[in-house]
Amino acid sequence: MVRCSRYLFLRIREIVTLEGSEKQPMVQFKGIYKRFGNVVAVEKMNLDIEEGHLVTLLGPSGCGKTTLLRMLAGLEDPTEGDIFINGVRVNDIPIHKRNLGMIFQNYALFPHKTIFDNVAFGLKYRNVSKKEMREKVASALEMVRLPGVENRMPSQLSGGQQQRIAMARAIVIEPNVLLMDEPLSALDENLREEMRREIDNLQQELGVTTIFVTHDQREALSMSHKIVVMKEGRKQQEGGPQEVYNEPVNHFVADFLGHSNFIGGQIVDVKDDTVKVKIETGENLLALNKGRFKEGDKVELVVRAQRFDVYLPEEFEHDITANFFEGRIIDRSYMGGEVSYFIQLANGREIHVISMMRTRIYKVGDDVCVQVAPSHCHLIPLQ
Ligand SMILES: Nc1ncnc2c1ncn2[C@@H]1O[C@H](COP(=O)(O)OP(=O)(O)OP(=O)(O)O)[C@@H](O)[C@H]1O
Ligand SMILES: [Mg+2]
Repeated sequence: MVRCSRYLFLRIREIVTLEGSEKQPMVQFKGIYKRFGNVVAVEKMNLDIEEGHLVTLLGPSGCGKTTLLRMLAGLEDPTEGDIFINGVRVNDIPIHKRNLGMIFQNYALFPHKTIFDNVAFGLKYRNVSKKEMREKVASALEMVRLPGVENRMPSQLSGGQQQRIAMARAIVIEPNVLLMDEPLSALDENLREEMRREIDNLQQELGVTTIFVTHDQREALSMSHKIVVMKEGRKQQEGGPQEVYNEPVNHFVADFLGHSNFIGGQIVDVKDDTVKVKIETGENLLALNKGRFKEGDKVELVVRAQRFDVYLPEEFEHDITANFFEGRIIDRSYMGGEVSYFIQLANGREIHVISMMRTRIYKVGDDVCVQVAPSHCHLIPLQ
C-alpha cells in the first residue's frame, strides 16, 4: 500500500513535470552559513536535491557534513541562509513537523523497548489508529527484510539487524527526506557492503529522497545519484559519481577520491583536440583539450594510479611514444585483485601505479616502461 501510493505520487509528479512546469527540488539550501563562535562549520552552502535522489555528502572529519544534516533536520539553526523542503521555507518549522526520517551511526534504538515500540515510535504523535500502526510497522519490517520480529528486544538482534530496525523506524513515517549520518560506520567490512546494497535497493524501491553522509569514497561512488564533496565547510564540487571521479575540479577533490599522481606543469601548445603540457621534469605530456586552459596557464596533471600501463622494455611495441617514461620498480604490494607499485622514473620523479593482476607481476628492481593515454591525463588549475 505504502509502495503503491508512493509510486502513484511519483508518476503523477513525473507527468506534471513532463507537461512543462519547472520541477521543484525536494531540498534546497540557499546561502547557508553556520558558525559556532569562531568556528565556521558550514560556509556559503547552496545545494539543490532532486526528489527521489540519493545524494551523498562526502568529506574529511570536521568538514561540516553532520552540521548540514542537523540544520535540515531542525536540530540546529543556520546562522544565515534559508532551507526549503518541497518549496516550503522550514527555518522556523520545528523538527517534528518537517517529516524527516533520521538514521545515525549508533542506531540509537531504545534498548528497553520492543522492536514494535521502537519502530512505531515516530507514529505515536501522528494520530494513527492501533490497527493502522500495526500494519505500518509490519510493512516497514517487511521492507527491511525482518518480518515478524515485533516482540523481540534490540539486544536480541545483531548489529546489522539493529541497523535495519533503525531504517524501519525512519521509513515507517513515510518521510519526505531520509537523512543518514554515517549509518554503516559501526559495522564490519562485509556487513557494510551488504547494508550498502540494501540501503541502495530500499531507497530505489521507496523512491524517497535521501541524504547520506559518509567519509568513505567507495560508499559515495557506489550509491549516489550525486556526490557533494566538502572541505572546511565549503562545497568543492557536486556531480554524478563518474563526473566527480573523472573530472575533479581541483586538487582536493582529485586527492580525496581515488589514488592520484599530481604532476605540475605549464601549457605550451593548444591544438583542437589536445594540449601540450611541459612538466616540471622537462618532458612534454599530452592531455585532451577540454577547452578550459590556454597557452601559458600553470596546471596540474592528474593521473589516476590505475591509468598507467606498465611494460617491460622488450614488451613495449607501440609506435606512439607520447606520454612515455622509463623507470624502475622500487616498491610493490599485493592488494588482493590488484598490485600497487611505486616506480622511480628516469627523470627523478616517483609515481604510484595500481595494476590489475591480469597482466604479469613485476618485481622490485625491474626496469619498466610506463605510458598513459592523453585521455587519462586530467588537467586542473595549479593552486
Ligand atoms: N555544537 C558545536 N559547537 C562548536 N563547534 C561545533 C559544534 N558542532 C560542530 N562543531 C564544529 O563544526 C565543524 C564541523 O563539524 P561536523 O560535526 O559538522 O563535521 P563532520 O563533517 O560531520 O565530521 P565527522 O566526519 O568527524 O563526523 C567542526 O570543526 C566541529 O568541531
Ligand atoms: Mg559527522
